[in-house]
Amino acid sequence: MCGIVAYVGYREACPIIIKGLKRLEYRGYDSAGIALLNGNLNVYKKKGKVSELENFISDKNTHSHIGMGHTRWATHGEPNDVNAHPHYSSSKKIAIIHNGIIENYGSLKQHLINKGYEFHSDTDSEVFINLIEDIRENSNISLAEAVRLALHEVVGAYAIVVISHDSPNQLIAARKGSPLVIGVGKDEFFLASDATPIIEYTNEVVYLNDYELAVIRDGKLDIRTREDVSQTPYIQKLELELESIEKGGYPHFMLKEIFEQPRSILDSMRGRLVAENSHLVMASVIEFENKFKNADRILIVACGTSWHAGLVAEYLIEEFARVPVEVEYASEFRYRNPIIKEGDIVIAISQSGETADTLAAIELAKSKGAMIFGVCNVVGSSIARATDAGAYTHAGPEIGVASTKAFTAQVTVLTLLAMMIAEKRGTIETSTLRQLMLEMEQIPTKVEKALQLDTEIKVISEIFKDAANFLYLGRGFNFPVALEGALKLKEISYIHAEGYPAAEMKHGPIALIDANMPVVVIATKDSSYEKIVSNIQEVKARKGRIIAIVTEGDAVIPDMAEFVIEVPDTHEALTPLLSVIPLQLLSYHIAVMRGCNVDQPRNLAKSVTVE
Ligand code: G6P
Repeated sequence: MCGIVAYVGYREACPIIIKGLKRLEYRGYDSAGIALLNGNLNVYKKKGKVSELENFISDKNTHSHIGMGHTRWATHGEPNDVNAHPHYSSSKKIAIIHNGIIENYGSLKQHLINKGYEFHSDTDSEVFINLIEDIRENSNISLAEAVRLALHEVVGAYAIVVISHDSPNQLIAARKGSPLVIGVGKDEFFLASDATPIIEYTNEVVYLNDYELAVIRDGKLDIRTREDVSQTPYIQKLELELESIEKGGYPHFMLKEIFEQPRSILDSMRGRLVAENSHLVMASVIEFENKFKNADRILIVACGTSWHAGLVAEYLIEEFARVPVEVEYASEFRYRNPIIKEGDIVIAISQSGETADTLAAIELAKSKGAMIFGVCNVVGSSIARATDAGAYTHAGPEIGVASTKAFTAQVTVLTLLAMMIAEKRGTIETSTLRQLMLEMEQIPTKVEKALQLDTEIKVISEIFKDAANFLYLGRGFNFPVALEGALKLKEISYIHAEGYPAAEMKHGPIALIDANMPVVVIATKDSSYEKIVSNIQEVKARKGRIIAIVTEGDAVIPDMAEFVIEVPDTHEALTPLLSVIPLQLLSYHIAVMRGCNVDQPRNLAKSVTVE
């Protein structure tokens, strides 16, 4: 996690860096800092948000054409001014910003302490910059060369930028496991954790690869590997629109992203589905058609909300394509010696495409010969590049830390994938496939309709905003939605919430139900409808306060539930795309009413690039 930005060129560096850091705050926001070079190498840092740093430097002389900044999500050392980045080396002649974790920092630190180095912070990053300084001082080499040699010594993940007091036109950057994008302008360069700080200045970017080092000196970009092999920079054109990373009149990114879903779902289907012509195409599935046809098993690895999308996919793929599916938390999978065979397909799902555990799970599966299929939102991300094939979700940048439109885009892509695999394997009736395709095309319009529930949900939110706990129940395709609804509420309102398969409630959570317990039940019309009606009765008998998500026109549940929220009717397998909408809105409004920071909830970060 952590966000990094750097600039060198003819413009004032400070405003570019501060604005860039604000765009990257979703990556971490416990402290921020900036280094500016103008005769002196000045470092300013502050605990808290980037706006605190901005206030702090408002009376300083920040004039400079080269600099770098950092917004932190603490790993080593508590969030405070001292642990904030940038970090000086001992001589204060060079400084570093770092996103990642240096695992062997302890032994490196001891080695440097033995040589007389002193440390001011608790961070691994300060060790990194002193290691670079030490290497440089012991041999007559350039700073870039010292950085390159230091990369051989450190174990772990990093995206770094190094600036030197003695080189007013030089930025040195390197990456392994943490993202770094280089923006190439006319007589200017930008470095950032993602493209959002860069897009308003240039749309030409180079994605640095693992174990590569970029040296920007006197207006030239030189990229070489850690082994010192020169690389030709591969310049790509960004398709990101500036408007897509701004709030566009909404009070929070999360609300904007919730309301973007009719469009983002449509974008996820664009070019892949035209029901009228029975057109269902995902280029990468066609490319690997035989693999999908012959797969004995599909494993899905993901974290957080993406893991919930994976659970929906399990239901969909098993239902339609009849392939056994296992869904794993990437963090468990990578450490538990899983059985992976050559004929297995591993689907990795990730909004950011940078989640460290998911990336490591991919590497493990790859090493055992599995084919890896990625479902990512961020184009050019590490996971997208590490997979053999994949499908982008095309949801557009998601900035609110709590994932909303990325989830529905993932479910959309995974639904199309399940349909395609089923078609290729001949496990689905043509009429069922056709019906699904037609229904799928209707989803954006139906999501639009579900969004009109906003006012109604606000009223319900007001009633329950002070609850201490929430229970979410669902069955079948909507069990993962219950988990997702509970996660949304926990993440942004800090209310304890649990998602449960409705029938499992009687094996434990039922003990929690009393007249104070709000129970959100997803009870849309599907094959387990009668069963979930019984579960509602069980809650009611214990005086639980039922908020039911039902299909439009339901005549039974309104007599049992205290509140009923109606979503449009659709094919049972597609209900998650509709039933999740009121749950997103419920968590959003409750969090706002509780005065929580919706877009940047405490302790969380959007992109988790640490294990
Ligand atoms: C973090 C985010 C979640 C996200 C999860 C997985 O915890 O706060 O919103 O679901 O990481 O991230 P990914 O980018 O891999 O989907």
